[in-house]
Amino acid sequence: MRVDGSLRVPGDKSISHRALMFAALGKGESRVRGLLCSEDVKSTAGVLRALGATIPGVVATEFTVRGGGLRGLRESATDLDCGNSGTTARLMSGILAAIPFDSRVTGDASLSKRPMKRVAKPLEAMGAKFAFATGDGLPMTVHGGLLTGTTWFSETASAQVKSAVLLAGLVADVPVEVHEPASTRDHTERMLRARGVDVRSDGNVVTLLPNATLNTADTDVPGDPSSAAFFVALAAMSTGGSLVIDHVCVNSSRTGGFEMLADMGALIAYEDIHDDGGEPVARLVVSARQLRGITIDPTMVPSLIDELPIIACVASRAHGETRVTGAAELRVKESDRIAAVVQNLKAIGADASELPDGFVIHGSDRPLKGKVTTYGDHRIAMAFGVLGAVDGNEIEIDDRDCVSVSYPGFWSDLARVAR
Ligand code: S3P
Repeated sequence: MRVDGSLRVPGDKSISHRALMFAALGKGESRVRGLLCSEDVKSTAGVLRALGATIPGVVATEFTVRGGGLRGLRESATDLDCGNSGTTARLMSGILAAIPFDSRVTGDASLSKRPMKRVAKPLEAMGAKFAFATGDGLPMTVHGGLLTGTTWFSETASAQVKSAVLLAGLVADVPVEVHEPASTRDHTERMLRARGVDVRSDGNVVTLLPNATLNTADTDVPGDPSSAAFFVALAAMSTGGSLVIDHVCVNSSRTGGFEMLADMGALIAYEDIHDDGGEPVARLVVSARQLRGITIDPTMVPSLIDELPIIACVASRAHGETRVTGAAELRVKESDRIAAVVQNLKAIGADASELPDGFVIHGSDRPLKGKVTTYGDHRIAMAFGVLGAVDGNEIEIDDRDCVSVSYPGFWSDLARVAR
C-alpha cells in the first residue's frame, strides 16, 4: 500500500466540546469554526439545548451561538443524554454541580459502565450532591447547589476530572486548585484564559481564581491530533509515497502519539507551525522508514492515551518488541482498550499479550487475517481499519459505523489516500 495526497482531519473533539460549552456560558455571541460534527459533539449540543441554551438545531462546522451567561442554564424537563461521550458527561457534571437544580445524566451502554465517581468526589467536596442508580456509572443525578472552593488532589491524570473542577469553580465563582499526578491536556485552561478567566498553571497544579464572568470569544477548532494519528500510522506502514495532513493541533499535551510513532520509524515533518486561536497548529508531511518496536515510558501516557490502539496496531508490523505500561486508564475508555487491542491482535494472528496496565506486542511482517470485534469503540475500529489497509492483511471489522462518534468521514478519507 502506498500513500498519496493530502487531507484535513475533522476538528479536535476536546476543543469542540469545550467551544460549545463556553459559547453557551458566555454572555452574547460566539462564533465557532471548524467544529467537529460527530455524534459525541452532538451529545454536548443536545445536553446544552435541553438546559435551555440556544444552540442551533443542526450541528454544523461553522455556526454562531448566543450564550446566556454563567447563570443562564435552566433545569431540563428531560434526562441529559450524553450518548457515548465521557467528555460530555464529566465536564457537564462540573457545570451542573454549581447550578441550584437537579439533572439526571444518562448515556449509552458503554458510557453507563464508565467511572463517574472520579468527578462526583471533588464536586461533592465542593458541596454538590450526586446520586448513582448503581455503582459508579450512569445514570446519575446531580443535585447542584451553592459550592465552596477546593484544593483537589486528583488520583487519576484526567483532563476531564480537572476540567469538571475548573468549570464548577468558574460557574460557582469560587477558587479551585487541582493537583494532578501528571499533567494532562490543557485546552480548558487555554480556552478559559482566552475568555478572560484567571487560570494559572504551575507544573501539575492548575488554579482558577473567581471571575464572575466569562467573556465571549470566537473559536477556530484545529484538526484533531488523535484523528491525524491514524493517518500518520497509515503512512508509517506504507511501502512508499507521502501524506500531507493539514492544520493539525500540535499542542504538546497531545503530541506524544506523534513522537512515539516517529520513534517507531514514521518520518514526520512539521511545516508552517503557527498559532491559531490559542493552539499551535502545523501541516504534517509523513512518510515511512523501517519500523521498530519501542518501550513507552509511563510518564508519556497522558499525552498519547487515545493513540495507544493505533500504536499497538503499528507495533504488530514493527521489528521487535513494543511495551506499554502505566496505561491502566485504557481499561475504562469507550471499551476496555487493553483487552480489545490484545484480543483482536491475537484474533488476526499477531503476537500480543495483556499486562494489568498495558500490553506487550512482538511485530512481524506475516499477513494478518481475521475478524475484529470493536465493542462499539471508534478508536478500535479505526486502528484496525488502518492495519487492514496494509498489503497482505485481510481484516473484517464487525461495526464500521461506530467511527461516527469522532470521525464520521474516516472510511472515505482512508480509501482516498491509501493506494
Ligand atoms: C478528554 C480527556 C481524556 C481523553 C478523552 C478526551 C478531554 O480523557 O481520553 O478522549 O476532552 O478532556 P480522560 O480525562 O478520562 O483521561
